[in-house]
Amino acid sequence: MSEVRLGIIGVGNIGRHHANYLLDGKVKRARLTGLCSVIPQELEPYKNRGPKLFGDADAMLKSGEVDAVVIATPHYQHVTIGIAALEAGLHIMVEKPIAAHKADAERLIAAAQSRPDQVFAAMFQLRVEPRYLKLRQLLNSGDLGRIMRVTWINTDWFRTDAYYASSGWRATWKGEGGGVLINQCLHNLDTLQWLMGMPQSVRGFCHLGRYRNIEVEDTVTAYMEWAGGATGTFLSTTGEAPGTNRLELAGTRGRVVLENDRLTFDRNEVDAEEFNRTTKSGFARPDTWRIEIPFGNAVLPHATLIQSWVDAILDHTPPLVAGAEGMQSIELANAMLYSSLVGETIRFPLDGAAYEARLNQLIAESRFEKKVVKTGADDFEKSFRR
Ligand SMILES: NC(=O)c1ccc[n+]([C@@H]2O[C@H](COP(=O)([O-])OP(=O)(O)OC[C@H]3O[C@@H](n4cnc5c(N)ncnc54)[C@H](O)[C@@H]3O)[C@@H](O)[C@H]2O)c1
Repeated sequence: MSEVRLGIIGVGNIGRHHANYLLDGKVKRARLTGLCSVIPQELEPYKNRGPKLFGDADAMLKSGEVDAVVIATPHYQHVTIGIAALEAGLHIMVEKPIAAHKADAERLIAAAQSRPDQVFAAMFQLRVEPRYLKLRQLLNSGDLGRIMRVTWINTDWFRTDAYYASSGWRATWKGEGGGVLINQCLHNLDTLQWLMGMPQSVRGFCHLGRYRNIEVEDTVTAYMEWAGGATGTFLSTTGEAPGTNRLELAGTRGRVVLENDRLTFDRNEVDAEEFNRTTKSGFARPDTWRIEIPFGNAVLPHATLIQSWVDAILDHTPPLVAGAEGMQSIELANAMLYSSLVGETIRFPLDGAAYEARLNQLIAESRFEKKVVKTGADDFEKSFRR
């Protein structure tokens, strides 16, 4: 095979974005040959543009027109369609989150593991943003010393009631399985664990529908502890404007802050613990040097991940983000919410079956009536956050 024939299942906000750069030829050795949506109007603009159009995922999977599919449907269908695609012998790129909850993610990962020749990748485009790559490099180099604290104020996910009303599945237990954690913050939670590793425990405090007319969480405060002694807090909401996106990592060798497109490293001249051991002064503190770390922005980061998946299929190289790596962010999101629901600290690994049972109970008890009102022509790409 010298070229991968790609299909996209789900041609909503993100499916359209993938379709457009693929049709613009931004991914080499790949051709968009299929598009699938259960909403016929979404397919209209793609008539006579090359790809074959499908109103049903199964029909595309069995059509023989595609070698690989990008799954860009609501979260629960990532698993059902993902497993069906694997069973049809196709490679899969699954949008984030790879599932709505941990037990479902395990089902998808198990199905992929039993077909090692098919490439399962996941869409976590922040992994190719230079700002996070630089932060990771800094952490891995040991330049920050022993990490003591991470604080992520991640409240610039402002969303309106019109956004929530725009489709039936959004922000419902049944359609999405959660709110700001499993949707908007998932990229940040993935980045957090990619930088820091998984914490050993979390205590979450979530408010359901506090600022918006939704039944799931729109506001979160979580406290985490890592095995190495670091502690952390993660805050998010879709109700705050102007929001804040400030990531601070404090180590014994200094503190790094990422905010407002600046990455600033205040580096201790002497490790703070060594300073403490050796100084005779009660109020002295280590001198610091301020270092501004320059970085650019990734160009078409989603296309970069698709390219790495296509390369993995053709060249048998690993994709940038293997599908199974989609588990950790789901486990963090689920545990923050579960902790709040049961009023307890959760130690990892999360009990996926217990969480699934609780989610099913929320679905069964839901009395929330959603009135869907389609929004106009919003510029979806404005929603991307770095
Ligand atoms: N990586 C990113 O930057 C990013 C950005 C936005 C959304 N997402 C993820 O992409 C997914 C879709 O989000 P969206 O905002 O595009 O949703 P959307 O509601 O705009 O679009 C959903 C699409 O799925 C299709 N669909 C639903 N059920 C289907 C089925 N059974 N078979 C075939 N098609 C079906 C719909 O027809 C529609 O085309 C979500 O999981 C979301 O978390 C990722």
